[in-house]
Amino acid sequence: MKIRDFGVEIWMNKYETRCELNLAETCVESLTVAELLEMAGRTDIEQQLLPLKLTYGEIEGSVRLRTLVADLYERQKLENIVITHGAIGANALVHQTLVEPGDRVISVLPTYQQHYSIPESFGADTQILKLTEKTGFLPDLEELQTLATPGTKLIAINNPNNPTGSLMDRAYLEKIVEIARACGAWILCDEVYRGTDQQGLTGMTASIADLYEKGISTGSMSKTYSLAGLRLGWIAAPSELIHSVSIHRDYNTISVGMLDDHFAAIALENKDKILERSHRITRTNLAILSQWVDAEPSISWIKPQSGTTALLKYDLPFSSEELCVRLLESTGVMLTPGSAMDMEGYLRIGYANSENILREGLNRISRFLRESIAPAA
Ligand SMILES: Cc1ncc(COP(=O)(O)O)c(C=O)c1O
Repeated sequence: MKIRDFGVEIWMNKYETRCELNLAETCVESLTVAELLEMAGRTDIEQQLLPLKLTYGEIEGSVRLRTLVADLYERQKLENIVITHGAIGANALVHQTLVEPGDRVISVLPTYQQHYSIPESFGADTQILKLTEKTGFLPDLEELQTLATPGTKLIAINNPNNPTGSLMDRAYLEKIVEIARACGAWILCDEVYRGTDQQGLTGMTASIADLYEKGISTGSMSKTYSLAGLRLGWIAAPSELIHSVSIHRDYNTISVGMLDDHFAAIALENKDKILERSHRITRTNLAILSQWVDAEPSISWIKPQSGTTALLKYDLPFSSEELCVRLLESTGVMLTPGSAMDMEGYLRIGYANSENILREGLNRISRFLRESIAPAA
């Protein structure tokens, strides 16, 4: 089956190991195993791990981990959770389970490309709901209403949104639920950045799984919890949907690694400390980025409310890829071109890497814009 190239992943694969300062990173700065264990106060890891027999483990994910994941939601129980290979595995499984040729699928754009390219590859009637500055990069509800014709199978949204950092609150999500309910659609909300809101003690916005009887939430340990190396995610959804997903999952996952499951459980048992660290990084760094944007004449934005990335609009006569490649070659700083996410004319910056990398990266971009780009422009 043919499928489009995954723009962002191709860009990352090509340059991520070659750059000096990675401002394309979307994870809150990743934790080392030692840092995780120290936060968790675990000094007995050897005793825990060495006797572990490395079987397939509990097939749907350990009860310990699934219970911890369920606790991230208001109304989810063990039977509503299945563990997957990252959020990427979770999203792929949901699309594979629900979408058939000819089905109407509505996906916001920009978003993680899975949400429109996978249904497109299945032969779905894939409709794009463009997020624009006019609505602060939130879905235009009137437009959604028009696209959501009777029998629509799935509405795919992303909250908080990558790359814009826009955030739908509970009331906004409830309006989307009303539209979905009227046409019978499932809502898949990719919530991989949930927990990184700029405001609030928990930094958590409402989850679609708690708001809608056909609401499906996907999440993972990668971004908010700084543990992408575990490759561990989940789906939270009505138990019947979890059952249908599990049928597909048997064909491509069996189970996730026992060690990944184990470390994810340790992390979620200590989630308050991890979230506190994530909030410190994302909130400090967004303030730094905000000052920088205010001082750069060729850059403008809608300031993010959540997440780890911002979409920067630039006023320069270059394609986003050309700008990013030139920036990388002359300064070692890596951004992501808007073209990699079907958003030409923009650049995505990830601001949740370490503060030093962000500060130095921004300095180098400023110099690049002043010395290399402005004279040519
Ligand atoms: C919106 C979104 N969904 C899913 C993923 C995949 O995350 P994971 O590492 O959990 O597979 C990403 C990664 O960039 C993402 O930005």
